Amino acid sequence: MKSLKIIAYLLLIVGMGTASAQNSKCPFQFLYRFGDGISDIGNSVRVPPFGPLLPPTRDPYGVTFPGSPIGHWSDGCVEMDYVAEAVGLPNIVPYLAIDDSRSYDGVVFSVAGGTTLNASFFESMGVRIPPFDIPLDTQLTWFRTFLQSNSTSQTEYAKRQPSNSAIIFEFAQLNDIGYALVQGKSIQEVTNYVSLLVEALINAAREVIKLGATRVVYTSAVPLGCNPYILTALATDDASAYDGLRCLKAVNNVAVKFNENLLSSLLALKKEFPTVSIYPTDYYATVAGQIILRTPLGSGRGNPALRSCCGVGGRYNYDFKRLCGSPNVTACPNPNNSIYWDGIHFTQQVYRNVVAIQIVPALLLLQCRLI
Ligand SMILES: *[C@@H]1O[C@H](CO)[C@@H](O)[C@H](O)[C@H]1NC(C)=O
Ligand SMILES: *[C@@H]1O[C@H](CO)[C@@H](O)[C@H](O)[C@H]1NC(C)=O
Ligand SMILES: *[C@@H]1O[C@H](CO)[C@@H](O)[C@H](O)[C@H]1NC(C)=O
Ligand SMILES: *[C@@H]1O[C@H](CO)[C@@H](O)[C@H](O)[C@H]1NC(C)=O
Repeated sequence: MKSLKIIAYLLLIVGMGTASAQNSKCPFQFLYRFGDGISDIGNSVRVPPFGPLLPPTRDPYGVTFPGSPIGHWSDGCVEMDYVAEAVGLPNIVPYLAIDDSRSYDGVVFSVAGGTTLNASFFESMGVRIPPFDIPLDTQLTWFRTFLQSNSTSQTEYAKRQPSNSAIIFEFAQLNDIGYALVQGKSIQEVTNYVSLLVEALINAAREVIKLGATRVVYTSAVPLGCNPYILTALATDDASAYDGLRCLKAVNNVAVKFNENLLSSLLALKKEFPTVSIYPTDYYATVAGQIILRTPLGSGRGNPALRSCCGVGGRYNYDFKRLCGSPNVTACPNPNNSIYWDGIHFTQQVYRNVVAIQIVPALLLLQCRLI
């Protein structure tokens, strides 16, 4: 535990130092992003008809940055904001806010709550999904629509070509698993469909590669068993269900299984497309490292690092009936000291650290120059 803590610190310091050398020059001019709330920079709040009523349209979302809610599921920036900045392509736009007369550095198709599998799958499983869920296949439809839309200039058209871009797939929040677990599905039931999630993600890569993509990045899943909303829904008196960080072991094992399956499938995909660059990034270890750093020694039954900053009630400061953004639900005094913002998503500080740690190897793999 102690040595893990030291390693996590080292990663943090190394990452921070280099990520501030922000002016990197990459051999691509555009970013595409598919995913969930970790990278949603404003799509979910624009999904009709309920989007405009979602929590991140209300205080205290955005309290750290820019000071008011802007549709990010965080107290400030989300991971995608930092990624875009780090690769030198900061001018990104949520798909649902595109103004086709303008020039951009990237488009984000991610929608908070998004799933890899679609509504018909969840219907067959008897699992309810939120009405604003935009699954991967719809995000891919948006992508194709965007590619076909004709912009004003030829330069802009050339810039947007998949061959001139880096494409990131991130369904790190494992919403497909989370929805099912909080609705009472067993670990066994959700484990049974892990391979379907991976298959859908790999098929999505095949599709963008067919459209010309040559750089594809994947993120692993986060340790879902540490998320306050999962810890609250699946709370148990059985002490052996928890690991050393007081996260739910069985749920984290599902995430680990997903990550192992994804990694081996990516290796196979590399063989299938030898000329395409395909990179995995490890969000599981990075987020676990953040939790370790903030876990006080001897925290007994509850680990304060797993408490939501914004929320109310229970051991994890999370109650799905009184979410962050509801009346009289307040945020902790300094979100920078918390891992989890609203019980589901992370704080700006965590996104910043996650990117700082991951970005240097990622930039090197993408053949970006650090200048
Ligand atoms: C959902 O996914 C399944 C399996 O990939 C596919 O057969 C089906 O057409 C999809 N349904 C919709 C509504 O997109
Ligand atoms: C869009 O415009 C470009 C350049 O003006 C042209 O090459 C391309 O064929 C057009 N695409 C469509 C789908 O109309
Ligand atoms: C919020 O708190 C105020 C003051 O304590 C109280 O009057 C009000 O009823 C509360 N509103 C809700 C929705 O709980
Ligand atoms: C949290 O950190 C950000 C910079 O990362 C800083 O701008 C902000 O003031 C900090 N918030 C508090 C409450 O200290």
